[in-house]
Amino acid sequence: MLRNTRTGYGTIAIAFHWTMAVLIVGMLALGIYMHELPPTAPETFQLYQLHKSIGFVVLALALFRLIWRLMNPTPKLPDGMHKLERLAAHLGHVGLYALLFAIPITGWFMVSASPWGIPTVVFNVLPVPHLPIPELLGTKEQAESLFKAFHKYAAFLLIALIVVHIAAALKHHFIARDETLKRMLSTRPANESA
Ligand code: HEM
Ligand code: HEM
Repeated sequence: MLRNTRTGYGTIAIAFHWTMAVLIVGMLALGIYMHELPPTAPETFQLYQLHKSIGFVVLALALFRLIWRLMNPTPKLPDGMHKLERLAAHLGHVGLYALLFAIPITGWFMVSASPWGIPTVVFNVLPVPHLPIPELLGTKEQAESLFKAFHKYAAFLLIALIVVHIAAALKHHFIARDETLKRMLSTRPANESA
C-alpha cells in the first residue's frame, strides 16, 4: 500500500514522515551544538558544511513530500474530535510543513548574504549557487544577521510545535485510544478502507 487512503497513510507518506523526523531532530541538535563551537576551528567548519548539506536534503525532501501529499487523499481525523481540535491539528500540520521550507530557505539566504562568501557544496559533490539578496536589506552583515535571526527563531518555533505535536500524538494513543499514532506507524489502517 504505497498511497494514502481516507483511513490511513501509505508507505511513502510514513517513510517521508519518519525519515524527516529523524533528520529534523538531528539538525536542530546539530545547529544548537555547532553554534556554541569556536567559529574558526576546522571541526566547526566541517560541521557547518554538514549542517548545510543535510539542510538541502531536508529542503528537497520537503518539496517531494508536499507534492506527494497533494497527490494523495488525506486520512480523515478520528470521529468525535472537537471542531477546535480539528482546527488545531490542521494548523499544526500546516505550521510544520511551512517551517520545513522556511528554515532551510532562511539558512540558504543567510549563507548567501554572508560577507565570508563561503561556497556551499552539498556533500562535497553538488555546488549550490548563492541566492540574490535584495539591496533594501542593507549591508551584507545586516542582511546576514536578519536571516540568522529568522533561521534561529523559526527553528525554536519548530521545536515548540514538535513538542505539542508529539504530546498530541501521545494523547490520541493513550487517552483517546484512537488510530492516529498507529496509522503513522503502519499501513494497516490505510488498508481498512480498501
Ligand atoms: C532542516 C533544516 C535546518 C534546521 C532544522 C536548522 C536548524 C538550525 C539551528 C537550530 C541552528 C542554531 C541557531 C542558533 O542557535 O543561533 C542553526 C544554525 C545555522 N544554520 Fe541551520 N538549520 C537547517 C538548515 C540550514 C541550511 C539549509 C543552511 C544553509 C544553507 C543552514 C545554515 C545555518 C548556519 C550557517 C547556522 C549558524 C548560524 C550562527 O552562527 O548563528 N541551516 N540551524
Ligand atoms: C517522535 C516524534 C513524532 C511523532 C510521535 C509523530 C506522530 C505523528 C502522527 C501520529 C501523525 C499523523 C497525524 C494524523 O493522522 O492526522 C503525524 C503527522 C505529521 N507529522 Fe509527526 N510525529 C513526530 C515527529 C514529527 C517531526 C519531527 C515532524 C517535522 C517537523 C513531524 C511532522 C509531521 C507532519 C507535517 C504531519 C502531517 C502529515 C500529513 O498529513 O501529510 N512529525 N505525526
